[in-house]
Amino acid sequence: MTGEIKNKLEKISKILSESGIEVYSAKELKSYLYDETPPSLGLKPTENVLITKPRNTNEVSKIMKIASRERIPVFVRGGGTGLSGGAVPTAEGLILSTEKMKKMEIDVENFCAVCGAGITLRELIMNAEASGLSFSPHPGDETATVGGMVSTNAGGVRAMKYGVMRNYVLGLEAVLPNGDIIKLGGKLIKNNAGYNMMHLLIGSEGTLAVVTEVVLRLLPPFRKTATIAVPFKTIEGAIEAVVEILRNGTIPLALEYIEREALEIGEKVSGKRWPPKDEANLMVIIEGRNEDELVEVAEKIEEICIGKGASNAFIALGYKEQRDLLEVRSLIYEGMKEKVIEVLDVSVPPAQIPEYVKRCNSVAEKMGFKVVNYGHAGDGNIHQHPLKTEGWEEKYEELKKTFFRIARELGGSITGEHGVGIVKKKDLKEHLSKAEYELLQKIKRAFDPDGILNPGKVVDL
Ligand code: LAC
Ligand code: ZN
Repeated sequence: MTGEIKNKLEKISKILSESGIEVYSAKELKSYLYDETPPSLGLKPTENVLITKPRNTNEVSKIMKIASRERIPVFVRGGGTGLSGGAVPTAEGLILSTEKMKKMEIDVENFCAVCGAGITLRELIMNAEASGLSFSPHPGDETATVGGMVSTNAGGVRAMKYGVMRNYVLGLEAVLPNGDIIKLGGKLIKNNAGYNMMHLLIGSEGTLAVVTEVVLRLLPPFRKTATIAVPFKTIEGAIEAVVEILRNGTIPLALEYIEREALEIGEKVSGKRWPPKDEANLMVIIEGRNEDELVEVAEKIEEICIGKGASNAFIALGYKEQRDLLEVRSLIYEGMKEKVIEVLDVSVPPAQIPEYVKRCNSVAEKMGFKVVNYGHAGDGNIHQHPLKTEGWEEKYEELKKTFFRIARELGGSITGEHGVGIVKKKDLKEHLSKAEYELLQKIKRAFDPDGILNPGKVVDL
């Protein structure tokens, strides 16, 4: 650690501890240096950092005032479940963990929850349900935090019907790099007062301000569900069925595409069996008022799928059967973590998925890579998992660039879900036009002129 920063951090540590804010060394909390980004990408966190755990907005403001005065980088950390290195410290400085920010208030009359940034998805769901309401989207791992999910605009399997995190944020409280506290929106459904800075902060990956409190929209209680597993021989059949299911007027809760190999991995990790599978499989989750309605819709979906070449469909109505299927799907990444290079999350117009996947697979094959695919087919958001292979280190960059080029040609985005973080920072610059990238830089400078918030992520100052 350079002497100057070491002295500054020691001084900061003393001031914060005297104010009752917890401070730890990275040696004490080593796991705080990492998130869930695949190890193959070899992210190297800076170990010379202190970890601090403020309990509320005022304490965050105090930390930011000191950090700004001393020009010390601050890396905000939620549940650490990100896949793009967004929370990994890239310079000597402070990790600001939101885990102690646990304010939780349900406003039943206004259908919303006011949450501290450190409330986990699990806590939010439980509190909403205990009040007779629900937080219906399921944007990720249940240990993810509200602050993290807002900062990354998290998606998840239910985005098909319920949308992404952005669709639920009504208000935000945040701390600017200089320590000023800002309140954007509120318990409001409508708000047109000036530029929408709230939506600018959503998805900004901790580079513009520290999100400390969030007002989230809640919905009436969740209804009954059925899960339908359908095996197809080809990706074309599966995706044509996706389009047809949507055209038929049913918006499923989830419409997932999963290749055979991915399912086999999920089965192995979960110890649960998937019903008959083929090369290209769909997992459709539907919601309905009662079993009769669910069966009627499920049978219609089965008919559509058979019309598109599926051999049959497995309809699960029981809670346990459905939970087992979801577990197989949810644990695929866990089972692949050591084998994959990266979890890509390109999004394309949904009907373009077969073309995107086929063109990518053909490039991959020529370059000697195998890619396993699954993802949110209804959203056009596909998770490609290039597997490690002999000499992959030299060739991977080119493979990824080609995939992103194909996505662009099809009108897609390089990231539909996991964000830019460190791992797609260079790609973002190539993906955007010069004018667009320069606007991002100007926005970054307007919020954070000294570049102390999450430096090295998303956009250069
Ligand atoms: C998923 C994560 C990888 O969809 O986004 O499982
Ligand atoms: Zn996903």
